[in-house]
Amino acid sequence: MTEYEVWKPSALLGPLPVALVSCAEKDHPENRNLLTIAWAGTVNSEPPMLSISVRQSRYSYGLIRDSGEFVVNLTDRQLCRAADFCGVRSGRDLDKAAACGLRYRPAEGLETAPAVEGAPVSLSCRVRERMELGSHDLFLADIVAVSVRADLMEEDGSLHLERAGLMAYNHGLYQELGRVAGFFGWSVARPEVFRRRMKAYRKPDRPGGGKGEKRPGKEEYR
Ligand SMILES: Cc1cc2nc3c(=O)[nH]c(=O)nc-3n(C[C@H](O)[C@H](O)[C@H](O)COP(=O)(O)O)c2cc1C
Repeated sequence: MTEYEVWKPSALLGPLPVALVSCAEKDHPENRNLLTIAWAGTVNSEPPMLSISVRQSRYSYGLIRDSGEFVVNLTDRQLCRAADFCGVRSGRDLDKAAACGLRYRPAEGLETAPAVEGAPVSLSCRVRERMELGSHDLFLADIVAVSVRADLMEEDGSLHLERAGLMAYNHGLYQELGRVAGFFGWSVARPEVFRRRMKAYRKPDRPGGGKGEKRPGKEEYR
C-alpha cells in the first residue's frame, strides 16, 4: 500500500497559475500597479468568470475593490522574473512596471485597469462580487474581453497556447510548462488517432513540441 503522511489542513493545491494582475486607481487611472496572484481560478464558462483571492493588506486590494476592474495577464519565462518581483515588492513603495521594464497597454473592455504588454494572454475582468473569506477576499469577476498574443496564433485561427511556455507555481517554485502528455479525451481515443495527433507535439526543441495540429481558435473556445 502507498504510504502517506497526514498534514494539517492547508491550501496545498497545485500547480497554480502565475498571474500578473494589473489594476489602477479609479479616479486616477494613471496610477497603475501590478501584483502577482497564484490563487486564481476559472469558475464558470457561460458567462466566462474567474476568481482571484487577494489579502486586504495588498496595495492592489483597494485599487481593485474601488475600480471594480483588473486584468489577469498570464506569464511565460520572459515575464517570470517580473512576476516574482511584483509578488515581493509593493506598489506603495515603487512603480513595479518601471522597475521591471514592463509597459502597460489599454485593456480591451475596461475603463481603468490596463493590460501588460507582451503577456501571452490577458483577461479583462470586471468584479461582480467580493467575498470576505478570512485571510483573503475573493473577487468574483466576469471576463469581459480576452486578448491573445498574435504569434501564438496560426493563420487557420488556431491558438497554440502550448507553445507559450506558460509558468506554473508549484509549492514555492516557478515551473515552465513543457512536454504535451495528451489532449482532451486522449484516454478514450483510438490508438491510431492518439499517435497521429500526438506526433505533432513530440518535438523536444521547444515547449509544447512541434508545429502542432489545428487547435481551438476564438470561435470554438469555451
Ligand atoms: C508567486 C506568488 C503568488 C502570489 N499569490 C498571491 C495571491 O494569490 N494573493 C495575494 O493576496 N497575494 C499573493 N502574492 C503576494 C503579492 O503578490 C505581494 O504581496 C505583492 O507584493 C502585493 O503587491 P501590492 O502591495 O503592490 O499590491 C503572491 C506572491 C507571489 C510571489
